Amino acid sequence: MVALPVAGIKFLTVNFIKICDMNTKEKWNERYHAGTGERQAALVLNENLHLLPENGRALDLACGLGGNAILLAQQGLKVDAWDIADVPIAALQDVATERQLSIQAGVRDVEVNPPGPETFDVIVVGYFLDRDLIPALIRALKPDGLIYYQTFTRQYVSDRGPQRAEFRLADQELLQLFSELHILFYREEGCVGDVQKGFRDEAMLIGMKKG
Ligand SMILES: C[S@@+](CC[C@H](N)C(=O)[O-])C[C@H]1O[C@@H](n2cnc3c(N)ncnc32)[C@H](O)[C@@H]1O
Repeated sequence: MVALPVAGIKFLTVNFIKICDMNTKEKWNERYHAGTGERQAALVLNENLHLLPENGRALDLACGLGGNAILLAQQGLKVDAWDIADVPIAALQDVATERQLSIQAGVRDVEVNPPGPETFDVIVVGYFLDRDLIPALIRALKPDGLIYYQTFTRQYVSDRGPQRAEFRLADQELLQLFSELHILFYREEGCVGDVQKGFRDEAMLIGMKKG
C-alpha cells in the first residue's frame, strides 16, 4: 500500500527531470539549427589574452559554437569544449579538425557532469549562469588556474539577454560567487554615466585560484 505511491512519485520525478533536460537540449539545438548565435569569443577573454599560461589545459564550458575554445586553442592551449546541445558541438569539431586546432568538443550536461577537481589551468564561461555549479568550477581549477566569466546583469540598457531575472547577475554578484579567488580583473558599469558608451548589460571577471 505504501510502496506504490512512493514508487509512482519517484517514477514521475525521474521522468520530469529527463523531460527538462531534453527541453534544454532541444531548445538550444533548434536555435543553432536556425543559425542563431555567433562563433565569437567573449570580450573578457579577447581583451585579456596576456594573462593566459603559455600551455596547459583549458575548458570552454557551455561552449555553444565555441568562439572561446577556438581562441584558446590558437593561444597554444589544449582545449575541451562542452555543451548539452549536439548541433554546435558537431560544427565546432568540424572547424577544429579543418583548422588543425587542439579542441576536443563533447556533448555534456555540465549540471549532471561538472568538471573533475584540479583538471584545468583555464576555464572560460560565456553567457551561461548556473550558480550551483560555481563551487565545482573553482574546484576544477588547478593551482594558479584562471577562470574567465562573462554574462548578463539585471541592470541593463538594451534588450539583449534573457528576460528572467534568475538568469542574470545581481549587482556585483560575480565578485561574491568567486570571493575565494584572487580577483585579477572585474568590470560592471550598470547604468552609471553615459549609457550610450562603455560596457553595458553585462559583468566580467577573471579570478585566479592561488596555488
Ligand atoms: C547563451 S549560449 C552561450 C554559448 C557560448 N558560451 C557563447 O558564449 O557563445 C548558452 C549555452 O549553454 C548551453 N547549455 C545550457 N544548459 C547546459 C548544460 N546543462 N550543460 C551544458 N551546456 C548547457 C546551451 O546549449 C548553449 O549553447
